[in-house]
Amino acid sequence: MKVYIETDRLLLRDIEESDAAGIFALDSDPEVHQYLGNHPITSMQQAEEMICLIRQQYVDKGVGRWAVIDKASNEFVGWSGLKYELNLRKEFSYFDLGFRLRPKYWGQGIATESARESLKFGFTKMNLTQICAAADIANFASNAVLKKVGLQFKEVFQYEEIPVNWYVLNREDWLKHVSRTP
Ligand SMILES: CC(C)(COP(=O)(O)OP(=O)(O)OC[C@H]1O[C@@H](n2cnc3c(N)ncnc32)[C@H](O)[C@@H]1OP(=O)(O)O)[C@@H](O)C(=O)NCCC(=O)NCCS
Repeated sequence: MKVYIETDRLLLRDIEESDAAGIFALDSDPEVHQYLGNHPITSMQQAEEMICLIRQQYVDKGVGRWAVIDKASNEFVGWSGLKYELNLRKEFSYFDLGFRLRPKYWGQGIATESARESLKFGFTKMNLTQICAAADIANFASNAVLKKVGLQFKEVFQYEEIPVNWYVLNREDWLKHVSRTP
């Protein structure tokens, strides 16, 4: 997979080995990990291993999270995109929509902008019929983004004793959502 999508402000592309410093800055930040189990990474080696795993998903599943680059500064903002998720729901696997950005970029609509492109890619280029997502019920920003881009709340489930909101979006509902979104 070699994805290269441009939005007004962003470049979305495959994560590369050279993104290790950016991944380290992102994933060593305790603020970023507040609703992700509170286990920020502590070494560059862990960042490199994460990149390896993501790149293997491109090969194995045809998709994985993308690097989000700020076009104006060429800076690594974080990652966003789809992942084939096998571990979160014990009963089934699914294509997951997710995003993780460096705090200095929060609150500017970047997660929303990139999530819209991820859904478009999944439903039109990959021909998926359903994309799902999960967010800690206390993670207001993440829940807000998921709802804004059309994901539909289904239930709360427990993951490692934490209540998590579960969202689903079918292709036909996505088509209706985008036809209503200016
Ligand atoms: C979740 C995250 C990606 C959001 O990124 P972002 O670029 O700031 O998101 P956006 O600016 O596109 O949208 C954020 C929305 O949340 C809302 N929001 C933010 N903080 C909020 C809060 N405390 N309460 C209610 N709404 C809140 C914003 O108002 C905005 O909605 P609006 O456009 O309707 O006003 C970012 O906070 C992040 O990287 N967090 C750490 C990693 C993480 O938790 N990832 C999600 C795991 S499920």
